[in-house]
Amino acid sequence: MEEIGRPVFGEDFGTAFYKFGPIWIGKIPDMIENRAYFPKISKAVERIRGYVAKEVVVGPEVVEYLESKADLSRLVYPMRNGVIERRDERGWRAAKELLRYSLLKHAPDKPGSFSGFYAVTALAAQAPTYMYEKFFQLHEEINKEEGLIVKALTIIPQPLAVAIAEKATVCTVLEAGHGNTQITPISKDVISGALIPLNRGGSDSDRISAQILKDLGYSDLAKEEKFVRLFKEAAGLVPRDLDKAISWAKENPNALVSSFQIPQTAVKIEMEDKGWLRFLIGEFYFDPRHEIFESYYSRGFSPPKDTLVAGEVIRGDVDLGEAIRISVSKTPVEIQPQLLKSVILSGGAFYWKVPPGLENIAVDSPTKIKLLLDRIGIKSEPKMVSDPQYSVWRGAIVYGYYLAEDYKWDWRQMEGWYYF
Ligand SMILES: Nc1ncnc2c1ncn2[C@@H]1O[C@H](COP(=O)(O)OP(=O)(O)O)[C@@H](O)[C@H]1O
Ligand SMILES: [Mg+2]
Repeated sequence: MEEIGRPVFGEDFGTAFYKFGPIWIGKIPDMIENRAYFPKISKAVERIRGYVAKEVVVGPEVVEYLESKADLSRLVYPMRNGVIERRDERGWRAAKELLRYSLLKHAPDKPGSFSGFYAVTALAAQAPTYMYEKFFQLHEEINKEEGLIVKALTIIPQPLAVAIAEKATVCTVLEAGHGNTQITPISKDVISGALIPLNRGGSDSDRISAQILKDLGYSDLAKEEKFVRLFKEAAGLVPRDLDKAISWAKENPNALVSSFQIPQTAVKIEMEDKGWLRFLIGEFYFDPRHEIFESYYSRGFSPPKDTLVAGEVIRGDVDLGEAIRISVSKTPVEIQPQLLKSVILSGGAFYWKVPPGLENIAVDSPTKIKLLLDRIGIKSEPKMVSDPQYSVWRGAIVYGYYLAEDYKWDWRQMEGWYYF
């Protein structure tokens, strides 16, 4: 290992994916699913020579246990909404094993020259204080069990890491993961009274995609979470204007690809003359209140869940433009113009692309947000970070590199280094 100044280690706990790695890994962190499998430990199998039964399994090995599809209740996604409940023992155990796996994978093997990582954990902005305490404790335990791997730890809210990676001081960050979207006005620090951890994310596009697959006659495939996600990523489009996009697709039946060979599988999906349904997949994430979804709701398909913030209910079907307006309206009037001007999009749920030739009909995420804000009279030029799934991790690395070494963790400020 060539030591590049401080050995910083980034740990971004997303709702679906854990991104991690040391500063020297380059621009792209490692990524595994933020989940753990708790195998049933069979006495018979345990006796087989050389076989060591594990209590918890994380990383690529999980797939081996899932082959039979037998017991999904043993598969734990600890942070689907960004928070692990205080008493969720399995959730905390999962987080600990994910941490251990990631740190051991990258700890240099020549212990002499290495005195421990400066680790930076990125958590959802709504993470309660006990989660901070718990993460200090988990690192402490791993240090005891494995030898000192982490010398110091700090914890940072994910949207703040994005703002740091983008060098923005006053801005509104939308961090759009699989499970939720953190709408986060920032002025040097997260303005916590204005934060909306909206109950909507990439998984909602998966839900509508599954419904569409079912309606097309692919009921069995619609039950497979992973397959649905791949179909969504291949077929989903964000329309500039949903009504116009649908009319256009119906008038030009051959203009839209409607047959999909799903990557990594042997399956082909034929949408035939229903290619226009592709626009619903993208629209549903941005504006589930569009009237076209009424017919789905009336059949029992549920809109995204409401979000409760400080006693106020934010409707599940609120469009993202309106959600930004509500959030920013809770900040001091003086900084509102700048918060609305600098809207930064990050997270995989914004990773929609516009296929060549569809530029007039389909849009990328910044354009869609711009149009939604425009509809309520707000002028803005939202921009998206360059690698939406990795910007939190990158910001965590930058933060860990520059945070003064002698700044000890301070519970009032919720910043500084916690030394072990
Ligand atoms: N090309 C794509 N098109 C649409 N959605 C995508 C694409 N790539 C990734 N996603 C979605 O991004 C989400 C994961 O984003 P990520 O930022 O890693 O989430 P989290 O941090 O919450 O784990 C998933 O819902 C995934 O399907
Ligand atoms: Mg994330």
